[in-house]
Amino acid sequence: MKTIDELIQDGVEGKRIFVRADLNVPLAGTTITDDGRIRAVAPTIAKLAAAGAKVIVASHLGRPKGAPDPQFSLAPAAARLGEILGKQVSFATDTVGDSAKATVAALANGEVTLLENLRFNAGETSKDDAERGAFADALASLADLYVGDGFGAVHRKHASVFDLPARLPHAAGDLIATEVGVLKKLTEDVARPYVVVLGGAKVSDKLGVIDNLLEKADRILIGGGMSYTFLKAKGHEVGISLLQEDQIPVCLEYLARAEKRGVEFVLPVDVLVSADFPDLKTKAAANPELVASDAIPADKEGLDIGPKTRELYASKLADAGTVFWNGPMGVFEHPDYANGTKAVAQALLDCDGFTVVGGGDSAAAVRILGFDENAFGHISTGGGASLEYLEGKTLPGLAALED
Ligand code: 3PG
Repeated sequence: MKTIDELIQDGVEGKRIFVRADLNVPLAGTTITDDGRIRAVAPTIAKLAAAGAKVIVASHLGRPKGAPDPQFSLAPAAARLGEILGKQVSFATDTVGDSAKATVAALANGEVTLLENLRFNAGETSKDDAERGAFADALASLADLYVGDGFGAVHRKHASVFDLPARLPHAAGDLIATEVGVLKKLTEDVARPYVVVLGGAKVSDKLGVIDNLLEKADRILIGGGMSYTFLKAKGHEVGISLLQEDQIPVCLEYLARAEKRGVEFVLPVDVLVSADFPDLKTKAAANPELVASDAIPADKEGLDIGPKTRELYASKLADAGTVFWNGPMGVFEHPDYANGTKAVAQALLDCDGFTVVGGGDSAAAVRILGFDENAFGHISTGGGASLEYLEGKTLPGLAALED
């Protein structure tokens, strides 16, 4: 992969560079609640602008249905990017239409613009090669060079991620270079014990990575909504907790494989339960009940790991040589259910090994819960992307930058 330093050496002054970023940040209305992804890609944008390029930044936000939808506008991200860069970032109110053309044409050397959400155009995510290709052609006409730096989206075979780099001379941005370097470290020559902590709502999202990590990790600790399908597979009743009944056979197979391979596969021993999902807006006291994980009442759902599990997981992480953590342990957005996620974050900080927080909700959780992000080995900007990398899949957005 060509680096942006090599691109800059070739000369970028006055060149229009399309930077595919991942500015898919969490929003409450128009307020960005975690700007980690914007801060992570800002150095690449700043470097290109400082070299005199005309920088056209583009990203998706959320999952609009291929047409403009104001709730998914990237306008707040343009304002935040401007604050971070310390310079004006203009904003095009469309992707390849009159506004984008005029905004790009108005760029002086060293200036930056952000296009509106790429997913407002159906061609971005289309499964049809020709439809995607047509959108990529239109995007290519805006720029002279392409820099891929939207690590969080490299697992998507989308027009701006996969088809566009084939149409323009391209390079990988500094964020992608860093992310890939860290993930390589997790797949080649890991310091042991290698401990993986997986949480989040759906077990089905994590099966691929568990499949692969069963061959590599020494311990796998499970929490969050996905743990209830494993608990059910072990024969426990889980009340009204999140459950993917159809995944029970594969959970059973993984439990058996872990035992056979000598991988410690650790499930919660106690959980906080309630009959009601907490109010995340008012954060009103939820008064959860603490129960053993094999005694969840029929009318209650598990919403966080309990204190014994927190202690157990901390002890399993204490001597780790390498840790990969993806997915919260509970409904961390509510203070009554944040302690499990906090305990795992703290255990990562207390451990001397190389610690990686794998994107998405867990990365946001670490920052929202007030931890110092610089104290972790690495906080990835890619949730699904890092999981698919660790599954051993070929990621379209990385493959496209290879040649
Ligand atoms: C993410 O949030 O994981 C990335 O931005 C990709 O978003 P997507 O899952 O909507 O493609």
